Amino acid sequence: MYPIIEWKNNKVYMLDQRILPTEETIIEHNTYQDVAESIKTMVIRGAPAIGVAAAMGIAIGIIKVKNDLEKEYKTIYETLAATRPTAVNLFWALKRMNLVFNKYKDNIEILKKKIVEEAIIIDREDVEINKNIGKNGQVLIKNNSTVLTHCNAGALATAGYGTALGVIRAAIENNKKISVIAGETRPFLQGARLTVWELQKDNIDVALATDNMIGHLMSKRLIDSIVVGADRIAGNGDTANKIGTYSIAILAKHHNIPFYVAAPTSTIDISIKTGLEIPIEERDKNEVIFFRGQRIAKEETKVFNPAFDITPNDLITAIITEKKVIYPNFKEEISSLFVNNTP
Ligand code: MRU
Repeated sequence: MYPIIEWKNNKVYMLDQRILPTEETIIEHNTYQDVAESIKTMVIRGAPAIGVAAAMGIAIGIIKVKNDLEKEYKTIYETLAATRPTAVNLFWALKRMNLVFNKYKDNIEILKKKIVEEAIIIDREDVEINKNIGKNGQVLIKNNSTVLTHCNAGALATAGYGTALGVIRAAIENNKKISVIAGETRPFLQGARLTVWELQKDNIDVALATDNMIGHLMSKRLIDSIVVGADRIAGNGDTANKIGTYSIAILAKHHNIPFYVAAPTSTIDISIKTGLEIPIEERDKNEVIFFRGQRIAKEETKVFNPAFDITPNDLITAIITEKKVIYPNFKEEISSLFVNNTP
């Protein structure tokens, strides 16, 4: 297995996802600023993976603190929190690190040890969680079927195994014959560059389609189900995921194809009621006017570049979590997953 993110000798190593599949390069990070920059520029991406990266960012920052612990910690925390706004896993991981900080801040040596331990625990737990998402979700995937996925909600988007791709992996491990269609996912091409790359590495049958082909493929009955990941799920089940997910969900409804969201409970944000409250990241216009370094529109072109969209809960057949699969009414089902506001 390739390392997606790794803590080694007080450094953080990440596979550079910006240049896959043509180059497989590992980047070393020595400071929390390096880690923050890699989250922002999408060296690492995907909700659970950026949660792990943020936790390791806190850890690397704390072990290098020189003077005023509280003041420096605040800067580290705020820098990491300002990297990407939509995926709630980032804030979830920061909150976990914050609890450790507050518990041990009076003894810097113990704090350094505990904060590194917590980041490593968050990393390891994520793989286990994804395996359980896979186990719970694979029962929904029929033998001899074709599954559409969008963006990359695979091993590369997590600490390993993946959420949406974890469901597919688990179905295959259960001896089901599955073909995958990966939507290209303009403008960052996570589907073409990352999902196809990681499925091919595992010898999983995958075909690539550009985003505008999906309706046609559905009309030809070439897609049996859809599984996508999530960046943030509101208390009523409305789901933020990669731009283009909403269009797929509408098409799925029209063609009566089940639309599943696979995500850990750490992606559910019960502090917000509906998807309207989810902040949508707007990214640099150059991601749209350039295609793999090649200019495709003039500099002065006005551009939309929202990185995510919201799929309303009524378009979602089920949400697959590590605890269980939940069905509408999502509001009630989601609150049943949280006891005392914690999953
Ligand atoms: O902009 P990205 O690549 O970070 O967006 C990733 C997605 O939208 C994924 O589908 C989501 O984070 C789930 S990853 C398990």
